[in-house]
Amino acid sequence: MNNNTYQIISLLADGKSRSGQEIGDLLNITRSAVWKIMHKLTELGIPVERNQGKGYRFTRPVQMLDKEVIWQALSPKTQQLIPRFTLLDTVDSTNNTMLAKIKEGKPSGSLVLTEHQTSGRGRLGRTWHSPYAANIYLALYWHFTKDTSELSGLSQVISTAVLSALAENNVSDLTLKWPNDIYHGQKKLAGVLIDLIAEPHSSTESVIGIGVNVSMPSTENEIDQPWTDIHTLTNEFPDRNIIVSSILNAIYPALEEFDSQGFAPFVTRWAEHDGLTGKAITAFNAQQEIEGIAEGIGPKGELLIQTSDKMIPFCNGSVRLRDPQAK
Ligand code: BTN
Repeated sequence: MNNNTYQIISLLADGKSRSGQEIGDLLNITRSAVWKIMHKLTELGIPVERNQGKGYRFTRPVQMLDKEVIWQALSPKTQQLIPRFTLLDTVDSTNNTMLAKIKEGKPSGSLVLTEHQTSGRGRLGRTWHSPYAANIYLALYWHFTKDTSELSGLSQVISTAVLSALAENNVSDLTLKWPNDIYHGQKKLAGVLIDLIAEPHSSTESVIGIGVNVSMPSTENEIDQPWTDIHTLTNEFPDRNIIVSSILNAIYPALEEFDSQGFAPFVTRWAEHDGLTGKAITAFNAQQEIEGIAEGIGPKGELLIQTSDKMIPFCNGSVRLRDPQAK
């Protein structure tokens, strides 16, 4: 995104109308250059409205991410755990960017945040819709001196922490769907994608990607599952910088806690928001499908499934509700 585009976004961020002539004069560019930038912004999902006589305005507040604002809202402990913080305009996927940064030797705790992803990745090979300046897309790198087999609860640790950060920002009535989705009712609000790289000597590199829908443009109608966003739930356009800071203040200390104490402290935190307990589910992975009733999670974060004859701990995979209307 070039400097003129940034300046136009800052200028129109207050939601007031400005004519093409006025914008052009301020930026020292032609009206047709202004028009081209507006066209580009519309393509990116920024809701530009053009009114004869009045000029251009954004129909929702558009506020850019600001590294300094985010950093200042972090606790000293979180700041200490983030040795590198990169804010990018656009990337294919923050998880891919972070995987490349690990190869370059970036330290554990490094963080990448972006305004836009061109190939955001979801679980099960899905696409994660990532329109410009609308939502939160971040990934961080964490080095564990543990074997991958000891990390089965990592997804649950992260989603529990993200939920608590959202609740602090008045996004209430959220539930967790094993292994790591955050829902409101039957609609998905946020997701976590973890890439693990097993290393020699029982250590593991992890890239933890988090996506939160904040105010999805109405043009995003291709999402293949029921979804919601913070704007719909709260009727506000929250400051993404504040929400990012809250998420970081929740997940970094949680990672440190998980690293030193394992999953035990997180079992009850998960249970408080578990949206599956008591529901009829099918759990599945490449090897198997298990039907039963979800009965919470075990001491390592595994899903407990009561089948007709026994309780089965299920570690790797996904879940679908057998009655999707069940509340
Ligand atoms: C899911 O399917 O629930 C996981 C979604 C994870 C999306 C986030 S957005 C930031 C990070 N980078 C990606 O490409 N995906 C994750």
